[in-house]
Amino acid sequence: MCGIVGYIGNKRAIDFLLDGLTKLEYRGYDSAGVAVNCGDEGIFIEKAVGRLDSLKQKLKGRLPNGTIGIGHTRWATHGRPSDVNAHPHSDCHGNFVVVHNGIIENYLPLKQDLISKGHKFISETDTEVVAHLIEENYHGDFLLAVREVLAKIEGSYSLLFMSKFHPDTLIAAKQDNPLVIGLGENGENFIASDIPAIISYTRKTYILNDGDIAIVQKNNVQFVNRQGAPISKKIFHVSWNAAAAEKGGYEHFMLKEINEQPKAVRDTISPHILNNSVNFNELNWNSDFLKNINKIYIVACGTAYHAGLVGKFYIEKLVRKLVEVDLASEFRYRSPIVDENTLVIVVSQSGETSDTLAALKESKRLGAKTLAVTNVVGSSIAREAEFVILTAAGPEIAVASTKAYTTQLILMFMLALYMAQLSKSIPENEIERLINLLKKIPAQISETLSDVDPIKTFAQMYGFNDDVFYIGRSLDYCVALEGALKLKEISYIHAEAYAAGELKHGTLALIVEGVPVIALATQKSVYEKTLSNIKEVKARDAIVIGIAAQGDSQLSNYLDHVIFVPDTDELLIPLLTVVPLQLLAYYAAITRGCDVDKPRNLAKSVTVE
Ligand code: F6R
Repeated sequence: MCGIVGYIGNKRAIDFLLDGLTKLEYRGYDSAGVAVNCGDEGIFIEKAVGRLDSLKQKLKGRLPNGTIGIGHTRWATHGRPSDVNAHPHSDCHGNFVVVHNGIIENYLPLKQDLISKGHKFISETDTEVVAHLIEENYHGDFLLAVREVLAKIEGSYSLLFMSKFHPDTLIAAKQDNPLVIGLGENGENFIASDIPAIISYTRKTYILNDGDIAIVQKNNVQFVNRQGAPISKKIFHVSWNAAAAEKGGYEHFMLKEINEQPKAVRDTISPHILNNSVNFNELNWNSDFLKNINKIYIVACGTAYHAGLVGKFYIEKLVRKLVEVDLASEFRYRSPIVDENTLVIVVSQSGETSDTLAALKESKRLGAKTLAVTNVVGSSIAREAEFVILTAAGPEIAVASTKAYTTQLILMFMLALYMAQLSKSIPENEIERLINLLKKIPAQISETLSDVDPIKTFAQMYGFNDDVFYIGRSLDYCVALEGALKLKEISYIHAEAYAAGELKHGTLALIVEGVPVIALATQKSVYEKTLSNIKEVKARDAIVIGIAAQGDSQLSNYLDHVIFVPDTDELLIPLLTVVPLQLLAYYAAITRGCDVDKPRNLAKSVTVE
């Protein structure tokens, strides 16, 4: 979604601003802009709809020399993508500029009030209100004016302010949207909405909390709260490798991230397995804690929701506790039955998804115990939840989630085992057996990744079909949902996933000669039933590609194409079956010439409702 960058120091600000915005391109955006304080010449502003290249074209031959500036990539919410709606936004006289991620919910009454006081608005955005508000409230004290503005606005935001009158200061504020300050070495400091924008400049950061205001100068960073009282913050050292945020030789981030899964999964498993038992020091639960939980919700969006569906199987099967899985955008609006005996698990790669964050806050308000499964330390969701467990996927840049999904599955599986250990719901030797199989998963994913040619061929053969169906039962169905989502979002092929047993209740009408059907048949407990569903679609002359476990000798008798994955327990096999589906989506998108890493209309981190 939107991205923010800021620079103050001795160098030309524009160079960092453009580089930082380029590093944030993965978040998705539809326009971009920069503002640089050029002293006596005033504040230079340039903005352009479309990709950053359009902005760079406009700046050609006229890059400003000022050493303090702010920049933004916008994903339209209020007002269509356009040059004028792009950030930064300015007051009536060009004395104050602001960039903003999030939504100012009460902007309309504020705008009407400002118009009645003579302010002239030029954009359709909610953000422009902030620029005029600061003009209205400024009486010589920049920080005081910012605090007055924050007291008046409602909604979610990270905001970065610059003023012509204060060429030595940037002010940043945060509420429900991420913001980080990077500490430079030689009289310079950086500001960004995401760490990848600054990691090639510094690893020393301050991560802002809700309510924090940062006053950033080239040799100094101070923090105050909304009341203006100073607060002290600890430096957070970023350990991510800068190269991890680059494509590393792959054509696309998505392919790189698919191939990173063995490592991501290994890194997620290893801190929690000790002497054949599962350990979550960060939870430190006991059997009484679990006894008091009579209901579990898993709440998430998109791919993370699909990981939640698998998590439900794990917990219900291994712990024998009832689990409901909910879309975060639905959960909070349907009066969920939540109390202090409820555990709400939110799953979010970014830790910033607005709906998931809101569901988490609502669950807390209702008294639930909350656990976040996330990939981003210090994210809003990680900070809001009572308990946090982290996937070790590293930065996921491609919009389509891959390694985050598999690492989420791993954490859900280990969490279920951990709960089973505490509640003694399954025998110890069964836990040991599953842990031993779990340890083999990284190598088995590598094996699955080593033979992509048949998948490439299928993608080339069927990449131009209009519709594809995915079927499966039990956990195969959960993975089918994820496979269909991957295909839809990056190749724009219409794809639907069906519980195989549901076909005859309606969807079978769509299965005609030549329609591609991807059939997953790895769940041993329902294998025969899945096989009869496969025969149903085959009898209607669909082109069926099977996904089966090695050792399956039956499926090839019925199907022309079968992709085999290594065999393991049926609970763990989703970690393997999803891999060919990710690759199938990837190569179908390539075949159709799609922008794999930045699919149309989608953003990496959905920080608005
Ligand atoms: C699909 C995808 C999205 C996200 C969803 C939730 O490939 O990436 O469906 O899974 O937007 O995002 P997080 O996990 O960041 O909360």
